[in-house]
Amino acid sequence: QTGQLSIDPAFVVAPVNRRLFGSFVEHMGRCVYGGLYEPDHPTADADGLRGDVLALVREQGVTAVRYPGGNFVSGYRWEDGVGPVEDRPTRLDPAWRTVETNAFGLNEFMRWARKAEVEPIMAINLGTRGLQEAIDLLEYANHPEGTALSDARVAHGEKEPHDIRMWCLGNEMDGPWQLGHKTAEEYGRLAAETARAMRQFDASLELVACGSSGRNMPTFGAWEATVLEHAYDVVDFVSAHAYYELEGDDVASFLASSADMDRFIREVVATADHVGARLSSTKRIQISFDEWNVWYLKSLQASGMPEDWTAAPPLSEDAYTALDAVVVGSLLVTLLRHADRVTAACQAQLVNTISSIRTEPGGRAWRQTTFHPFALTARHAQGRVLDLRVDAPTLSTTKHGDVPALDAVATHDAEAGRVAVFVVNRDPDAPVSLATDLRGFGGARLVESALLGGEDLTAVNTADDPDRVTPRAHPDARVDGTTLRAELPAASWSMFVLEVG
Ligand code: AHR
Repeated sequence: QTGQLSIDPAFVVAPVNRRLFGSFVEHMGRCVYGGLYEPDHPTADADGLRGDVLALVREQGVTAVRYPGGNFVSGYRWEDGVGPVEDRPTRLDPAWRTVETNAFGLNEFMRWARKAEVEPIMAINLGTRGLQEAIDLLEYANHPEGTALSDARVAHGEKEPHDIRMWCLGNEMDGPWQLGHKTAEEYGRLAAETARAMRQFDASLELVACGSSGRNMPTFGAWEATVLEHAYDVVDFVSAHAYYELEGDDVASFLASSADMDRFIREVVATADHVGARLSSTKRIQISFDEWNVWYLKSLQASGMPEDWTAAPPLSEDAYTALDAVVVGSLLVTLLRHADRVTAACQAQLVNTISSIRTEPGGRAWRQTTFHPFALTARHAQGRVLDLRVDAPTLSTTKHGDVPALDAVATHDAEAGRVAVFVVNRDPDAPVSLATDLRGFGGARLVESALLGGEDLTAVNTADDPDRVTPRAHPDARVDGTTLRAELPAASWSMFVLEVG
């Protein structure tokens, strides 16, 4: 079968927002303890931060990191995590049935973020706490000095204010599992009054209201509408969360996960714009897709939460296959295609827990299969997203209905004279002969290509075999005149980088 892409530099969606390559660090499992932070590790620096992990995070091209949760944040007291470590209380975290030592908190995270060269995105607790604690945290983190809270930060060794710009107003407050779960009315009011108070301190903050924790939530759509009716004028973003997993042997539905994400984005945009219309507002709410990934959640649910209360037990350390990497690649394609409305996104999570980087306690760190499509997309998706046309065979799936076999996006960096094309063949069985029309660019020369999947779809990377699944160059990709041609194997992710003009 054949597929055709048509790309023209005149048709632009939006600039590539670097915040699309965000990630997420939660106090969950070994993401923080044994992931970012392991003072006894041979590569740890004076702050106890693992140097091998920092190097991999930079290599992955992560631009922003949401912290500290997640479900964890809805029971978190931020004050527990600042000040002399020996004075910090040990507490129970009911979200993950874990003992939290608080050895790592806000200032450790900010030191880590500076070293990782990522923008912090801070989540506040609107589950067990409210407005007062939110503005206290804001004052502690962002006010220069001369008040009790800002002087406490200075006394804690952080002279310069952290100047955190983007804040999440709670986490998944629509979910019955969330500590302090609320109705849309209750949360909408709380989010609006918290946002208003935070803006009284700093009108330029970027604030995220909780949207739905999944498109399959019974309140999806109604939740966004009600929350935004309360908070439309005082927030910039509404969040979206989505996790996908292979169920049984339904590879076709799993490969088409991005069709569900695509619908999710369109529906949230429609809902937000509907509220905007009712309010006669010219403002447009953006989407912060601040949790997305492949997650084998059913296996965590089957094994249950830890019985004993321990500190940093391994949780959801999914070993990702080549097939999972193809799906992650297509989720990135979908986020980029919506770059006009999805202007922040965080892959969940960063290290060990649901993550593209894994570590051994005291030992090695390695790249999971899913690291590669993220790193290559973050590196090569530059400039502006183009509105390409896809002509591809239709694929029937049990979960997502009929979807085009190809999922694709292109970016154009006019200054560098480069075009990057990312394309996924979601057909689990049949290859696609791809032809990409690049006439609008004049000439084109292929400078780099990458291929993941297509074969050995169950292969994973391990500490002993960390490079079992890595991208390979496309064996037959070529430019004929102004047409890029390549064979896309079944179930594969491809990238082509071209010099144009
Ligand atoms: O990322 C794991 C969990 O998934 C987060 O804590 C929660 O927000 C979501 O349900």
